[in-house]
Amino acid sequence: MCGIVGYTGHRQAAPILLDSLSRLEYRGYDSAGLAVRNGTALAEVVKATGKLYHLADKTDQGRALAGCCGIGHTRWATHGDPSVVNAHPHVSGNCSGSGSGTVESDVAGVHNGIIENYTELKEKLLRHGYTFYSDTDTEVAVKLVDYYYKKYKIGPVDAITRCMVRIRGSYALALMFKDYPDEIFAARKDSPLIIGVDEKESYLASDVPAILKYTRQVHYIGNLQVARVAPGKVTFFDLNGDEVSVPLTEITWDAEAAEKGGYEHFMLKEIHEQPQAVRDTLNSLVKDGQIDLTETGLTDEMIREIGQIDIVACGSAWHVGMAAQYVIEDLAGIPVRVELASEFRYRNIPIDRKTLVIIISQSGETADSLAALRVAKERGAATLAIVNVIGSTIAREADHVLYTMAGPEIAVATTKAYSAQLVAADILAIHMAGIREKMTADQVREMLGELATLPDKMRRVLEEKERLQWFSSKMANTHDIFFIGRGLDYAISLEGSLKMKEISYIHSEAYAAGELKHGTISLIENNTLVIGVLTQKELYEKTVSNMMECKSRGAYLLGITTNGNFSVEDSVNFTVYIPKTDQHFMASLAVIPLQLLGYYTSVNRGLDVDKPRNLAKSVTVE
Ligand code: M6R
Repeated sequence: MCGIVGYTGHRQAAPILLDSLSRLEYRGYDSAGLAVRNGTALAEVVKATGKLYHLADKTDQGRALAGCCGIGHTRWATHGDPSVVNAHPHVSGNCSGSGSGTVESDVAGVHNGIIENYTELKEKLLRHGYTFYSDTDTEVAVKLVDYYYKKYKIGPVDAITRCMVRIRGSYALALMFKDYPDEIFAARKDSPLIIGVDEKESYLASDVPAILKYTRQVHYIGNLQVARVAPGKVTFFDLNGDEVSVPLTEITWDAEAAEKGGYEHFMLKEIHEQPQAVRDTLNSLVKDGQIDLTETGLTDEMIREIGQIDIVACGSAWHVGMAAQYVIEDLAGIPVRVELASEFRYRNIPIDRKTLVIIISQSGETADSLAALRVAKERGAATLAIVNVIGSTIAREADHVLYTMAGPEIAVATTKAYSAQLVAADILAIHMAGIREKMTADQVREMLGELATLPDKMRRVLEEKERLQWFSSKMANTHDIFFIGRGLDYAISLEGSLKMKEISYIHSEAYAAGELKHGTISLIENNTLVIGVLTQKELYEKTVSNMMECKSRGAYLLGITTNGNFSVEDSVNFTVYIPKTDQHFMASLAVIPLQLLGYYTSVNRGLDVDKPRNLAKSVTVE
């Protein structure tokens, strides 16, 4: 979704803003813009559609915009098409058609999120003589701030808080006021925003990688808070305008973790980082051979009391939930429901104090997952968040947090965060099984020993990448792909299918293998690719039979199975073997060939692997 950046200090702002925006490109966008001011001079605004280099060209890499205070934005269109006039920053005055140039305005701003009642607010402003040049909800927000600022002759913080109580929806806002030459004012509700400080400089951004090159000292501005950002100094306020303190957090991960490090794409790099992400996550949860979840605050007593688990998430994180369902039910014997966050939040699902709601999210900012978390809390459930981004909103609002240790994930298509979430869920299942006496201490130890072998086994799967590269070169013109499996293999199929379609734009579907014959099999024709995931011993023959049903209707078959299962070659056309492990952990290995297939297919089709069309890394709108 949209990316926000800001800078105020002693250096020229525009080149810094452009550099920071380039590190937010992964969030997805269709236009970009900057507003920079030079001392008391008015803000100069420049915007461009398309990739960021258009904006960089238009501003001579930022050199054409003089000034040490500015804001920048990459826009992922929600209200109004992706045009220059709709691109941010927006201003309180009137703009020419291009929306660029020195603009006679008291307020200029950028926004991430959606203002749900913008029509009602726009009508109010129209009645007070305001006119509008764009179709955006952001222009409405900026003009509303301007309206309160002038009507009550109050300072920026009070004008912003007045708006915050009027606006419904989600927002991260960064605003510059003509009368406050070297300051930026920011506000946040349900959309991410961080503020970095150095000795004499301050930075704003939607995400840490944008400013990591400049500072590691970061404030996570709280929900419904306002920040007054001056060079090297930030002051925070609550909705009443009272000053509040927000701690400074030191970012410990390396800036290089958010660089490509010699790989052609972030996605390929992150696929290769999976063994490390899994090892780091396991090491953070297993100490001296024992599972240690003390940092989550989940006690043994709470675990014994659980009557029902609801796992709630979106996209790949939901697929982790699907896999976790099989593992938790099988090992710990606790009933598990897996819900899409966008559905859960509007359903009246019976929840009581014995329900543990687990929210899984890489970013910790996904709007639907955050809303689901709040619904679960309101209904009295205990909540546990499995989150990758430290300090994110979901992590802060959940009762208990279990952090995955995947490090920053930049590619839109998740890989290492998915793998880290899987092992976190495995650990949780084993821990619950041990506490609830479904597994003996020896069995727990044995399972942990097996989990510890996963990073090396994942490395061995990665060594097969040339074969998968070769196979995907043959399928670049495929139109439809079906991923099938039963049980845990179905959960893996869901992720394989999403990886394929989101970055290769080839239509693909995942089906529970036994369900295919109830309708979908009519889509199978000559050379349709059917990928069968065959890691679960008891279900192997059943799924192979379903694959044969497809083959006899013309399908081309690829099977993913464990080493030594050579009889599969009698049935399928192409086989990928993965090392053996405990059946509960197979997803961690089987997903890797599927990620590689998606990756190489996207590369062969010449697509933008890391930033697929229409998608955003962190979906902060509903
Ligand atoms: O940050 P989250 O884990 O909450 O994101 C959830 C989904 O948007 C995400 O997994 C999405 O499906 C990925 N792009 C898939 O690769």
